Amino acid sequence: MSDVGCFEMEEFMDKLQKIVKPGKDFHLKPLIMQACANMFIQYMCSVRFDYADESFQLIVHYFDEIFWEINQGYAVDFLPWLLPFYLPHMKKLSKWATTIRQFILERIVRDREQNLEKDEPEKDFTDALLKTLAEDETVSRDTIIFMLEDFLGGHSAIGNLVMLALAFISRYPEIAREIQKEVDHITNNGARKVNLYDTDTMPFTVATIYEVLRYASSPIVPHVATEDACISGYGVTKGTIVFINNYELNTSEKYWINPKDFNPNRFLEKVKLEHFKMKRTTSLDPEPELVSSHVSKLVPDKDGYVKHVRTNIPHFLPFSIGKRTCIGQNLVRGFGFIMLANILQTYDVSSNTPDQIKTYQACVALPPKTFTLSLTPRTSK
Ligand code: HEM
Repeated sequence: MSDVGCFEMEEFMDKLQKIVKPGKDFHLKPLIMQACANMFIQYMCSVRFDYADESFQLIVHYFDEIFWEINQGYAVDFLPWLLPFYLPHMKKLSKWATTIRQFILERIVRDREQNLEKDEPEKDFTDALLKTLAEDETVSRDTIIFMLEDFLGGHSAIGNLVMLALAFISRYPEIAREIQKEVDHITNNGARKVNLYDTDTMPFTVATIYEVLRYASSPIVPHVATEDACISGYGVTKGTIVFINNYELNTSEKYWINPKDFNPNRFLEKVKLEHFKMKRTTSLDPEPELVSSHVSKLVPDKDGYVKHVRTNIPHFLPFSIGKRTCIGQNLVRGFGFIMLANILQTYDVSSNTPDQIKTYQACVALPPKTFTLSLTPRTSK
């Protein structure tokens, strides 16, 4: 995941370098979405597309349109009998989905189906899906393609989340400075790029992503009780609809100090460096040496403490909890981190027209055509 994310960031930064006019606002969102889409397509299908490829640009845009629409919470989502009143809306969604499907079939799946090596180990998610299709006659081709579309579509959530993070950063430049301090320290002032193994040593950057999630994650997560149960002394009978009220959990003064403030520090705590090292070395990390060399970069304060991201906040559930918890959460944390850190390593982010930066609480989606931002190459590191 780290390699895929870092490779795509190099391509993305090359592209940015060609189009950025220092200090001038421009539409950054389409490019962010294309970078995220490529990370997903590379990770799941082992291919990527050029930023100049118009069909690729179009389907990334359609994915984003769909993401925005499904986040609007229309009445028909809950009351299907309203469908006749939503026909033009449904037609629009269907046109976008058809174009996306055609692209995935023609530019990704067709080639892979023809060259599928059934006896070789699966090299990615697409291989696993195609093998299941070949081996299990209860699985239909439509199901496979639908799953691929659905998973690839996850990139829209991350692209929108990164745009939101950049919106906050343009509002609060001190947050960018903290992230840049971490980036410069861990990379020896830009001697290398940030990768996924840097998350432990860049707690403020991770905390910024969590703070964006606190602001933006879905207000309600509906579930249905599959058996009679008792929750906190309340009887819940089978079939009852139960909502996790994320809005209350994320914004109540009962749970957070000054919840209206955008403050990543709320996700940080201090731990003794020794304690932190012990925790890291007992983890099952596939690259323990790399991790421990990064941990050695942590500089403790005079009492021997380092900052660490709080992982034990029982009321913070942006990805929900239990059996149906979000399966994309590691991609969100990983690709979101790589994008944010790499952009801020190279650029200062601001806006010449801050009034047009509109964000929507409890909604990670931004309109496909949203605010502009300005990037300026950093001079001092
Ligand atoms: C901002 C980013 C994201 C947030 C806040 C988020 C949040 C959530 C939440 C709250 C659920 C409901 C869990 C439940 O019912 O208890 C969920 C489910 C799910 N998410 Fe995400 N998600 C994000 C990104 C992604 C991405 C990138 C993917 C792509 C792979 C993804 C794939 C899924 C899937 C497949 C489910 C259904 C899981 C199931 O029902 O078993 N999500 N997500």
